[in-house]
Amino acid sequence: MELRGDVAASDFVSSVEVVAPRDEVWDWPAKSSRTLQFDRPQRVWEPKPTPGQSRPYVVATFNLKGGVGKTTTTAALAEILSVEFGKRVLLIDLDPQRNLTTMMVGEKRAAELDSSDHTLASIFIDALMRQPPRSAAGLVQHHVSPMNVVTSVDLLAASPKLIALQDDMTRLTGADPTTVLAKAVSGLLTDYEFVLIDCPPNLGMITQNGLRIADGYLIPTIPDFMSTYGIPPVQSHVRHLASQWSTPITELGVVITKYRRSSAVHQRILDELRENRSLPRLFPTRIPESNQIAAAAEFTDFGSLRQKYGPGGQFLALRELTSDFLATTRIKLAWGR
Ligand SMILES: Nc1ncnc2c1ncn2[C@@H]1O[C@H](COP(=O)(O)OP(=O)(O)OP(=O)(O)O)[C@@H](O)[C@H]1O
Ligand SMILES: [Mg+2]
Repeated sequence: MELRGDVAASDFVSSVEVVAPRDEVWDWPAKSSRTLQFDRPQRVWEPKPTPGQSRPYVVATFNLKGGVGKTTTTAALAEILSVEFGKRVLLIDLDPQRNLTTMMVGEKRAAELDSSDHTLASIFIDALMRQPPRSAAGLVQHHVSPMNVVTSVDLLAASPKLIALQDDMTRLTGADPTTVLAKAVSGLLTDYEFVLIDCPPNLGMITQNGLRIADGYLIPTIPDFMSTYGIPPVQSHVRHLASQWSTPITELGVVITKYRRSSAVHQRILDELRENRSLPRLFPTRIPESNQIAAAAEFTDFGSLRQKYGPGGQFLALRELTSDFLATTRIKLAWGR
């Protein structure tokens, strides 16, 4: 989005003229240039918006391809937003593999949360049992992450039970099966500045619950053939859901993960991704493939985030990505804030 005039993202007050790029037709469908009024679209989790009340940026990490770095990107963004930028972050783990949960609380605690019904599975089970929706506030794990320096990241944990619930939810009658999470987190999200949702690599009902509350989404991808073929279907599925729900879900961009500078395939695919105007914007910072980033999944206090993610430029790349992510959310999700 190109802003006309000397306006910083943080200076948005009421209106500013924007020129929409071609690939943002969903957001600005009628004209290529117009005065944008920052009317806040009412979100499904916010039944009674309070004027002037702050609202978090709710961002899903989504790709139908598995193993492309969705969870790693989500965890790094949360930890860096907390330590380097002082943000309060809620992580929502919707993946039954519960990798994000394990990274944030360790395997033992993840299993305890599951056996004591302190995971997101509870709210979907309640919906299926036709119980009144309970607030997810009682499920929030506060101050997660093995890193002592990370002090403002909370978590709604995943459970392996979400696999079966994904199918069961399609049989929910009498209520919209995509708004169960929205109802449970209503009243909770305004405690945070960022809500990051780690989605599994499918478009089942649990994933749809996550996308239903998202203002925007990121697409992590490895720059290889198999991974990038999947980007246009991701875009069209999300656009379809957004139009079905009459709610904007903005493409924030593609994050290149596991990048190998020496790979001719990676270079070629990057060029193609850059040139293809129908694809979302590429974040300029690429996450390098690195043993240290892979090892960061371990539930260990590495001392500093630089040590955890890699002092050889890996942490700096992730910090740069986070800084760009902050600016992008402020510009692309500016509505009413
Ligand atoms: N930059 C990287 N360098 C090396 N290994 C990485 C990098 N990013 C992620 N990995 C490793 O790749 C594997 C897959 O990463 P991750 O779990 O983040 O992907 P995902 O897209 O969330 O996968 P899934 O679709 O299964 O949820 C993990 O073992 C992770 O540690
Ligand atoms: Mg994952």
